[in-house]
Amino acid sequence: MSAALAGLDAHARRLAGASLPDLIDDDPRRARDFSLRVGPLYANFARQRYDRLALDALFALADARDLAGAMRRLLDGDIVNPTEGRAALHTALRGDASDAPAARDARRQALDAQWRMRGLADALAASEVTDIVSIGIGGSDLGPRLIVDALATRDARFRLHFISNVDGNAAERVLAGLDPARTAAIVISKTFGTQETLLNGGIVRAWLGDDSRLYAVSSHLERVAAFGIPPERTLPMWDWVGGRYSLWSAVGFPIALALGMPRFEALLEGAAAMDRHARDATPRDNLAVWHALTAVWNRNGLHAAAQAVLPYDERLRLLPAYLQQLVMESLGKSVALDGSPLAAQTVPVWWGGAGTDTQHSFFQALHQGTQVVPADFIGVLQADHAHAGNHAALLANLLAQTEALANGQDAEDPHRRYPGDRPSTLLLLDRLDAHALGMLVALYEHSVYLQSVLWGINAFDQFGVELGKQVASRLLPALHGEGEAGDVVTRELLREFSTRG
Ligand code: F6P
Repeated sequence: MSAALAGLDAHARRLAGASLPDLIDDDPRRARDFSLRVGPLYANFARQRYDRLALDALFALADARDLAGAMRRLLDGDIVNPTEGRAALHTALRGDASDAPAARDARRQALDAQWRMRGLADALAASEVTDIVSIGIGGSDLGPRLIVDALATRDARFRLHFISNVDGNAAERVLAGLDPARTAAIVISKTFGTQETLLNGGIVRAWLGDDSRLYAVSSHLERVAAFGIPPERTLPMWDWVGGRYSLWSAVGFPIALALGMPRFEALLEGAAAMDRHARDATPRDNLAVWHALTAVWNRNGLHAAAQAVLPYDERLRLLPAYLQQLVMESLGKSVALDGSPLAAQTVPVWWGGAGTDTQHSFFQALHQGTQVVPADFIGVLQADHAHAGNHAALLANLLAQTEALANGQDAEDPHRRYPGDRPSTLLLLDRLDAHALGMLVALYEHSVYLQSVLWGINAFDQFGVELGKQVASRLLPALHGEGEAGDVVTRELLREFSTRG
């Protein structure tokens, strides 16, 4: 472990005897001092298990790792993904955060694509199409699915549907309720080589019976053409945008169709506002830096093996699934940038779900389980619905859970004892509109990147997902009874498949 990360251990040991309520009692001003506001987004870190001295060490780590410089390198389009020799210029998709030539060039291409997207959206709006099926997986699905689920209104011009899983039930369920004559489909795949998407795209192409309402988003135009979608209905992707960072690109075409172009632009502007904040704010005033340092503290100081994300808003119910890819595909690494093994632990398991539902499922373990799981609680102050009583109850539950997890409650009966001392961050949006949601998602993107810098790993490659894909393609013929493949266990399982399947 690096000396700086090892220094966190010393602070964690110093604080081991102090409970979270003790830390807060000893320093009540931290309730305010450990909070930040960036436009409509407020964050409070007072219920994290650090004190001001530990925070000093964390901010010293931020300086030692030059997080400010790292942020500039990202925005300028430097090669931040060295294993693939690529920049990661998702910020250029949503604003002018950098004047560097690579960023300006990317920005020009992004605006060009937006202009084309607007044209295709207008043409679709003028047609008889009522439903849009979006076909993609991972980064070509989770972002659009999250934003559409969060922000689409019932009076929207189009109804959006998503197919990702290679399980044919996914396609059948979506298509069952739709009329092919009034449906358009978008096949989204950066590589246009993803098995799930090509199979599902094939199902939808056949179901439509008419290729004229088939669209594509990809960086591989020849593969798209071979699939049967012409250039005029193909929107671009580029090597300099990672799949899980791509909802701001033409991958967001389903978002633009569901929300309309002005609200898609508001989403981009919200993200751009977070980019400017992450670039300009000093580390102590920088929400992305606080969030990243807190993650590293919980992982390397307190050795938390899991992190929960708990949106207290039904509209954000897909946020945990979205963040699982963003965070775990980016940070699930065990070697440093130079390929040497890491001594420090990297990403914990991220998981979660919407409150209050989850209170009635896994919160028992959060309160009394042996594993302490730090949590991000996310609330929205404005209800945007007519049920004020429900909203008050929702917010009361949100506050109650953060307080109960932190403070616990003593009891003679050990079964009724709450140990407390369970850390959380509270993120609050004034209201859930496109601008604020853009900010929130961009905050997590920047936190993930800064965590990667603190750990010295590459946040933008994902070689870990390749091996399983290769083995699956080797096994596919064997499922049809052709050839011998797999190890001795797999061959036994294949025999079982063929006798029972
Ligand atoms: O699961 C691996 C992955 O490469 C993700 O990173 C990506 O978002 C997803 O597959 C989909 O890839 P594509 O957009 O090329 O179909």
